[in-house]
Amino acid sequence: MPAKEVRSAKVWRCPICTYDNEDSMSACDICGILRNPLVKSNIQINDVAAPFKFNVPSPDDLVSSGLQSLKMKSKDNQRDTNIPVELELSAKDQESTSASVTRQRGNGVNEKDYAPTSGSIPGMPHRNVNTEAMSSKTGKVEKTIERKTASISDFTPETWMIPETVDGELSQLNLAIVGHVDSGKSTLSGRLLHLSGRISQKLMHKYEKEAKQQGKGSFAYAWALDESAEERERGITMTVGVAFFTSKKYHIVLLDSPGHRDFVPNMISGATQADAAILVVDASMGSFEAGIDATGGQTREHAQLIRSFGVDQIIVLVNKMDVVGYSKERFDFVKQKLGTFLRTCGFKESSISWVPASVMENQNLVANSSDSRLSWLVAAFAAYFVSLFPRFLCVICHAMYRGPFLMDAIDSLQLPARDYSKPLQIPICDVKSQSQSQVSACGKLETGAIRPGLKVLVMPSKEITTVRSLERDSQPCSIARAGDNVTVNLQGIEGNRVTAGSVICHPDYPVQVACQLEMKILVLEISTPIVIGSQLEFHIHHAKEAAKIVKILSLLDPKAGKVTKKSPRCLLSKQNAMVEVALQGPVCVEEYSSCRALGRVFLRASGRTIGLGVVTQIIKTEN
Ligand code: GTP
Ligand code: MG
Repeated sequence: MPAKEVRSAKVWRCPICTYDNEDSMSACDICGILRNPLVKSNIQINDVAAPFKFNVPSPDDLVSSGLQSLKMKSKDNQRDTNIPVELELSAKDQESTSASVTRQRGNGVNEKDYAPTSGSIPGMPHRNVNTEAMSSKTGKVEKTIERKTASISDFTPETWMIPETVDGELSQLNLAIVGHVDSGKSTLSGRLLHLSGRISQKLMHKYEKEAKQQGKGSFAYAWALDESAEERERGITMTVGVAFFTSKKYHIVLLDSPGHRDFVPNMISGATQADAAILVVDASMGSFEAGIDATGGQTREHAQLIRSFGVDQIIVLVNKMDVVGYSKERFDFVKQKLGTFLRTCGFKESSISWVPASVMENQNLVANSSDSRLSWLVAAFAAYFVSLFPRFLCVICHAMYRGPFLMDAIDSLQLPARDYSKPLQIPICDVKSQSQSQVSACGKLETGAIRPGLKVLVMPSKEITTVRSLERDSQPCSIARAGDNVTVNLQGIEGNRVTAGSVICHPDYPVQVACQLEMKILVLEISTPIVIGSQLEFHIHHAKEAAKIVKILSLLDPKAGKVTKKSPRCLLSKQNAMVEVALQGPVCVEEYSSCRALGRVFLRASGRTIGLGVVTQIIKTEN
């Protein structure tokens, strides 16, 4: 069905991205869709009441499918060369786009950007007074936003922002792979991509050959995620690897974290996007013990961090069972020790799944284990179910042979609730400058929804820009909603105005930018007490800033949360407290009560996480 356009005397509105194009344009300046010549010219903008359709293919649908293993932070430009995934504008397109944007800005009628029709752009109530002017000296567009924050309770989502349930459509699940160094996280990620067909046999052979040549044969699967020369040479992950695959129930975004203690800040940046996590544990003698060690084990640190990100469902993959001869005793030992610790982190027993496996020998990942040495697993399950349901022995016996293997455990995870109906907020984890005035920013939508053509605000740079296109799993998409992990291609913005730690938001509901905060914190194991003046690293979503404790307000009772002591002189391990911190530079932040993802804080010092916290009050904003 041809897409209908809407026209007023001087502009026609693109049916795909809602952008108002000049009447002389034969294709949309933003998304490039061809104007439908059959539509009569006297249709008025007000005539359109129905929401736009997004099932019309865009000319940008040039992107082929395949694995995207982009890297957060420094390795963002590395993609699998075998799979073309770029969504490129031709030089001509770029010219016309930028010319058009400049032309509009040159008009200086910014209100038009927000109210191109007699109504507003969907999702864009225009209460703000935004200014945009052409600098006479540089000819560059200067944009500022006058901050008049609307109340979130006033926000009414547009129809397109709320998803319709479509049968057979898979939801996106962000799954962080965490755990101590060398436990097998990247090998697991590579293996899952291979087993699900996202890595071809040919590519796998290539990895195997190259890894062998470098004397790193056992890292062949990990190479799919560990792409940089340094990672491959050192045999460790340094930045979070992102890849996609599909299970029976979910479209999964894998976030392969680095396990080495030096890269915990990178792990934090990636895994804050997680809806659920796989904690990979090395079962072999000594390795499990090193990971759980209180003075530096990352099994422990990652578990604590992931819980404080708000993740409450966890799969513990007890890996390298081949090394311990698939011993039930060893598995039970790991389960008992780690289980006790996970409960102290706040994980409920019922939200933890335990999967013994060998990633190397492909045991218990996507099917029941074929190794007879894992038969105790079946026996253990039989005993468990029979003790629960003795009358339904036959049914249960039939059921027990189906699990538990990793894929089953993944499909048993529940999707967390999504905030579709709040204003848009995307904390940016990674940025790529495509060309002048064109930037690709990656991140997970924490709240709201986004689509091409939408005007958005980038904070803290206060730049208003237009969403040119969206990509999910390297494929162009017409809409993304809370929970989706996407690449947002922005136009009309310089690369240095968007960085990891920036937040893309709704222009009328800018995220706060603060430099002094009150927080409720839990102090982890520390050797030096925290005092007024203590210097810390402050981590929040994908932002990191130097910070100083300026006040210790009170100690709190860990259970009731009541004040047990006012103005203590210092803080010790495991204490709960209210503190005030001053940041060296401003960061995008929200109070935890209004947005959890933007209100969770991690405090680090001397290469260790020393505290977890939530923002209770913003004391000083940027201005
Ligand atoms: P970091 O990212 O650096 O924290 O390491 P990682 O957890 O990603 O570990 P990686 O996947 O790089 O694997 C480390 C080593 O463990 C490699 O040599 C793998 O071959 C090996 N390994 C992974 N899984 C298994 C397994 O099931 N059995 C055995 N024997 N070795 C394994
Ligand atoms: Mg790794």
